[in-house]
Amino acid sequence: MRRFTLWMAVVAALVSCSKVDYRDANVPVEQRVEALLAEMTLEEKVGQMAQFCGVRHVEQRDKKAQADNQDAQGYYPGINADTLRKWTKQGLIGSFLHVLTPEEANELQELAVASRLGIPLILGIDAIHGNCLAPDNTAYPTSIGQACSFDTEMAYKIARQTAKEMRAMNMHWTFNPNVDVARDARWGRVGETFGEDPYLVSEMGLALVRGYQGDMQGGDDVLACIKHCIADSQPVNGANHAPSDISERTLLEVFLPPYERAIREASAGSLMTAHNEINGVPCHKSKWLMEDLMRDEYGFTGFVVSDWMDIERIHSLHKCAETRKEAYYQSIMAGMDMHMHGLHWNDEVVELVREGRIPESRIDESVRRILTAKFRLGLFENPFCDVDEGRKVRLCEEHRQTALESARNSIVLLKNDGILPLDAAKYRRILVTGINADDHNIMGDWAGPQKPENVTTILEGLREIAPQSEFVFVDQGLTPKRMTEANVNRAAQLARTADLNIVVAGETSVRERKGLKTCGENQDRAEIHLYGLQQELVRRVAASGKPTILVVVTGRPQALVWEHENLPAILCAWEPGMLGGQAVAEILYGKVNPSAKLAITFPRSEGQIQMYYNHKPSHYRHGLQDMPNRPLYPFGHGLSYTSYEYSDLTLSKSEIAPDESIEASVTVTNTGKRDGVEIVQLYIRDCYSEVTRPVLELKGFERVALKAGESKRVSFTLTPQKLQYYNLDMERVVEPGEYNVLVGPSSRKKELLKASFVVK
Ligand code: BGC
Repeated sequence: MRRFTLWMAVVAALVSCSKVDYRDANVPVEQRVEALLAEMTLEEKVGQMAQFCGVRHVEQRDKKAQADNQDAQGYYPGINADTLRKWTKQGLIGSFLHVLTPEEANELQELAVASRLGIPLILGIDAIHGNCLAPDNTAYPTSIGQACSFDTEMAYKIARQTAKEMRAMNMHWTFNPNVDVARDARWGRVGETFGEDPYLVSEMGLALVRGYQGDMQGGDDVLACIKHCIADSQPVNGANHAPSDISERTLLEVFLPPYERAIREASAGSLMTAHNEINGVPCHKSKWLMEDLMRDEYGFTGFVVSDWMDIERIHSLHKCAETRKEAYYQSIMAGMDMHMHGLHWNDEVVELVREGRIPESRIDESVRRILTAKFRLGLFENPFCDVDEGRKVRLCEEHRQTALESARNSIVLLKNDGILPLDAAKYRRILVTGINADDHNIMGDWAGPQKPENVTTILEGLREIAPQSEFVFVDQGLTPKRMTEANVNRAAQLARTADLNIVVAGETSVRERKGLKTCGENQDRAEIHLYGLQQELVRRVAASGKPTILVVVTGRPQALVWEHENLPAILCAWEPGMLGGQAVAEILYGKVNPSAKLAITFPRSEGQIQMYYNHKPSHYRHGLQDMPNRPLYPFGHGLSYTSYEYSDLTLSKSEIAPDESIEASVTVTNTGKRDGVEIVQLYIRDCYSEVTRPVLELKGFERVALKAGESKRVSFTLTPQKLQYYNLDMERVVEPGEYNVLVGPSSRKKELLKASFVVK
């Protein structure tokens, strides 16, 4: 009887599908998807799962480098851009990446729309901190700087504006946010992350997903992609792609929460698996990750995309499949939905289905997910963009203002013995030097070339803010890899004639500078002090006896022990985006009071790695012989030109049940003479637990604007979700016992006020 009813239901569904016109926008998305799927050939279905590099990209590669292993670069041996055009028109390609202009986006879309079923493409791009890989778009600070602002509203705004700039160019899907928890500064991609704390990373990730996706009703929304699942931020030796060997407990406590929350609380629409293997299993063939955790446990309903040719690497690198085709099989059967990118996918996956190894129903699942995204983004109704209208949105004044504001909020004042803010009357002749002083590297990784008139370098910012001063500039080139003794000597000499020296040092991560970069994707380091001759430059300039301040432009923490001990002030600008030069100058001259706090620990040396504030109790039982157990600058550290005092920490209750919440309130007073914004941080400590827990765990933060002399009461709610952890049986519970609540300006214990409560 049950079988019969089921059969009837299937027939009814089929009959109703046959009546549905998938092109009709008034029909519910689920029905449109089924109606379209019913009309597709196997080749067309597998085509929807295939992504390729854009035709301009391929044309450039064709010209440049056909010789070496160019699959990886997006050069497809044996075919050219016209073949891609033909396949698009045949409905055999579902998506492109690395399309950088609206003209190309429209051209490709026209071909897709002219295909038999007219299924539009979903165009993906790494719009990581603005859609600035493409020219003439706004470049905001990179993610690590955004995290240091602890400003989730600003992150939401950045994502919303990025979505608008993307849709203005006919791009629909950003490969962001990167919600990896970063605890190893040697890894080159730290700048793409929100730092070392799972709670902060989760909150920033949520804000971005919500900002990108809006209500997912088309218009100016884009699909978010949470990546790289999982733990690619902690590979062996900090080397990108290397294995990550991390216990299940640490994965669940540290690395997975941002994914879980982005899925459960913001319905992140897509997910990218990581280059690395996790505990012996390449992430691209991990059913445990893609199916068991993400879909079955967290409720992920979007689609999974592979990272750049990583399915092939199950065969070629990890050696877990004897052939490429076998790698495709393993990945699809583990839950993969879309292939980024390469020549052989279409044919070999079709073969796998025809041979009966992959059921067509499994392919249907993936295609359903991809088509659902396309319908929800409104691509069938609006496959094109109006290029001229788009120009009004991209880089508009409102977006530039957000880029500036977010840069101001992201720059961390690490040290100041009182020399800052600079006295413009006192310092008239100023030497400015260093690789990042007059360079577009302030935009960071995942930024392409932008017009000079749209970018304010630090030197330009200084000249604008202090026109009465003379800025003498000694160029040190674009990268620390090419610095010369001669230029260092010149700077050292001129330093003696200046009233003040500003050295703008750090890393180089600009995308197109292949071979010259020191930071960014695949730019991992063994040491994390200032690269190359930069240390010498700082020391020689400081040896002039004139006050020397250091501005660091970087995508990773730097070990700055000598600099901290010998220089009066250090500013970490991170990669502050296209208006970062103005923001740095405004902070140096006190037009803006710095407020940002570190979202990641600055160790004294790479030898201290791993070093993070939320370590377990025994982490520093003995420590090292040659170095203190302390970092140079801890998580949450950041100075201001005013001072704040914390008082009167109270809790709403002294005892709660495990399913109850509790409120903590504290008074924060601006005790200095300048207005400012203080980032108030709340940590917890579970005093005794069945399984070890971190000595501190961030569970709340708030940016509080305070006028000079003003006090405010700030409240936080500690929910059961924030108190729970995995017990011995790996169950998520709120454990009975005593908890400390610690509130203050950083994770330094001596600066935190403490109160306690008991869970009954
Ligand atoms: C990176 C991804 C990125 C992709 C496409 C890969 O190398 O790991 O983060 O989205 O390239 O550019």
